[in-house]
Amino acid sequence: MCDIVKILPEIDLIKDGELRKKVIETWEEAIELGGWSCEDLDKIPFTLLIPETDISIVDHTRAVTRTALAMARELKNSYGDSIDINFDHLIAGALLHDVGKLLEYGRSDGKVGKSYAGKLIRHPVSGAALAFKHRLPVEVQNMIAAHSKEGDFVKRRPETIIIYHADFTNFEPFRD
Ligand SMILES: [Fe+2]
Repeated sequence: MCDIVKILPEIDLIKDGELRKKVIETWEEAIELGGWSCEDLDKIPFTLLIPETDISIVDHTRAVTRTALAMARELKNSYGDSIDINFDHLIAGALLHDVGKLLEYGRSDGKVGKSYAGKLIRHPVSGAALAFKHRLPVEVQNMIAAHSKEGDFVKRRPETIIIYHADFTNFEPFRD
């Protein structure tokens, strides 16, 4: 099995040991179900919408997590108790927001593209399903399920709103 904490060191920022364990186990299962190896992780592109991007899903996940954390700290500094942010949930949700891409993507002829499952179920849904299976808090499931357009139909938690914007901030500048 891969050393997920070495790949995603931000996991260690989660204070709750049980939550940390669930994040690691969710990543491990996604890697296994997607048929990936540990070495693949650095080569899986973070998006298929930017052809030939050299930003991997790991680079993106770590950057979104750190961006979300910086946003949350500033919001907390500015608004104190007026804003309800659970930092452990935020970090877990950011680290897992795209974990479903390990199922949405697959490899054929050495190239990464949409898998058959990915054509039927997008990563916010498969990621939330995995998080449900691993008993992550429903707030973290909300962050995964609602960090994209799927979330237009449900209430977004404050942490989800932060991840939603951190995610786009780590995507739009790299588009043509
Ligand atoms: Fe993302």
